[in-house]
Amino acid sequence: MDCGNLWRVALLLCFAAHSLAQKTQLQAHLEHLDGVRNPMAATDEPRLEARRYIKEKFRELGLQVHSQTFNTILKPQFDELTVSGENLVGIASGTAGGPVMVVGADYDTAPQSSPLEDNGAGVAALLEVARHFMHVTGANGLFQRLNTVIFVAFDLNVKAYGNSHPGKPGSYHFLHQWLWPYINQTSNNFAGAIILDSITKFSTKFDSQYVIQEFKDAFPQASSAIASSGNKGDFLAMFTREDSRSINLANSFTANYVKDRKAGMFRLQPMSVRDGLSYVGVLKMFNHQSHHPFWSFRPSEELVPLPALLLTDTDVYRMSQDVCDRPCTPAAFLTRARESFITKTIDAVTNTLLSLQTERLPDTSAGGKLGVTTPLFLIVCVTVISGIIR
Ligand SMILES: *[C@@H]1O[C@H](CO)[C@@H](O)[C@H](O)[C@H]1NC(C)=O
Repeated sequence: MDCGNLWRVALLLCFAAHSLAQKTQLQAHLEHLDGVRNPMAATDEPRLEARRYIKEKFRELGLQVHSQTFNTILKPQFDELTVSGENLVGIASGTAGGPVMVVGADYDTAPQSSPLEDNGAGVAALLEVARHFMHVTGANGLFQRLNTVIFVAFDLNVKAYGNSHPGKPGSYHFLHQWLWPYINQTSNNFAGAIILDSITKFSTKFDSQYVIQEFKDAFPQASSAIASSGNKGDFLAMFTREDSRSINLANSFTANYVKDRKAGMFRLQPMSVRDGLSYVGVLKMFNHQSHHPFWSFRPSEELVPLPALLLTDTDVYRMSQDVCDRPCTPAAFLTRARESFITKTIDAVTNTLLSLQTERLPDTSAGGKLGVTTPLFLIVCVTVISGIIR
């Protein structure tokens, strides 16, 4: 083989190996999140396995792991049933002691659900955000952690199981009994939460997004933006409140979502929620996700709404372009389109954390935020492989 070809082959192999390595991580997480994770299911083993896996990953990444157990109440039929849950918390401590940020996703599922879609992929994305974040703020990283970031996997989101269940969800218990004491009971020590809940459905087909009348009334701007694209489900929805701190958080996420190179492929659709009648009209669409206890936080009599973004594909209001026949395996689920849609969200959340909670170190010799490892990997890989082929 002549020298030019040799390098070309080596480079190709390395690119393939690199993208394979990237893919393997999401898929590897999903392999542990493909069963129905619910205490009312025939077996509770998938929920327990997810729990073990998330804790193990948090530990591997160097996060300080806490677990918060709590009880909540289900009402499967006529009798109430007390069940215990465990929120899994991974702390990346900062050095400056500024406001804390939270990234969260539910790891349990409704009794009948698509465990990968709702919300296995959200948890896999949470693990990937944590992995990237710890990597670039680690020993050889370009960023230094100033303010603390908390990664949390919530258990028992009973609000997603149906209206009959009277208990409070895991995120409520996390906020009231864990986070509020942790931030010394003042919202000044809190920068906001980013919640990942169903983030995989994507479609460029006409009318794949179902826009109901209540939604049109509550979000006139978003509705006309969606209508002007032919009601395509080709966007990530970002639900946020209209107070100044929520707007700041939303602006930061938006800037990070639109800036990177894959920006053209996916759209971010903000949905600002006013505290008024319009809000009540669409309440049922998004009062069961984990951001809601933050918005409606009442440590005492007084309402103290905390900033939280809900990132979602809108779940039942969207028809996915890629259909995964059941039983849907992680490999079949992770089509290229789906994977890029999820990866886009992972990158934007990671970069939001970097811009709000860290400081870039003076040495700026290497490449972009997430692209740091790529050139290095390629150089080493090409050198090794061309040595082997020769
Ligand atoms: C809460 O207060 C303690 C003691 O003053 C302090 O060390 C800690 O950093 C505070 N926590 C946060 C999140 O600001």
